[in-house]
Amino acid sequence: MTRFMMFLLAALLMAEPCHAALKVVGKGESMTFDPSGFPPRMKSSWEIMKTKCVMCHSMERTVVSITTGIASVSGQPFDHNAARAYGFKMMRKPESNMSRQEIKAVVDLMNYMLDEAAR
Ligand code: HEC
Repeated sequence: MTRFMMFLLAALLMAEPCHAALKVVGKGESMTFDPSGFPPRMKSSWEIMKTKCVMCHSMERTVVSITTGIASVSGQPFDHNAARAYGFKMMRKPESNMSRQEIKAVVDLMNYMLDEAAR
């Protein structure tokens, strides 16, 4: 195989479907969002989410809900309204230790991610 053909093959293998704007890394329990493409205004929300939303369950639950559009435990549709409802539901759980403001930031981020996942 010539060097050029090998280059072409490598380029093909590395080409990703470019419609998926929301990136996910890791598998199973360690699955999480790749924040590198998040707009700067979402960075502080991500800081909150990645520390507070993994205290009781891993990020996998949220990743699966957002990328499939189906809430991973209840099997209910996971859309903008659901992101808001689940956000506040999580806040009301004992031990959640989250303020209304923090939940709002995370809900905004989840809505952004839902839009990105749908592209
Ligand atoms: C205090 C513990 C706790 C914290 C903190 C927490 N969760 Fe949860 N989460 C749960 C439990 C328990 C469930 C199981 C279903 C239920 O009780 O609603 C759950 C379920 C979920 C589900 C699946 C909902 C369903 O019904 O399928 C999602 C999505 C979710 N959490 C996202 C989040 C996000 C986002 C945050 C941060 C804002 C968060 N969780 C913080 C305890 C927590």
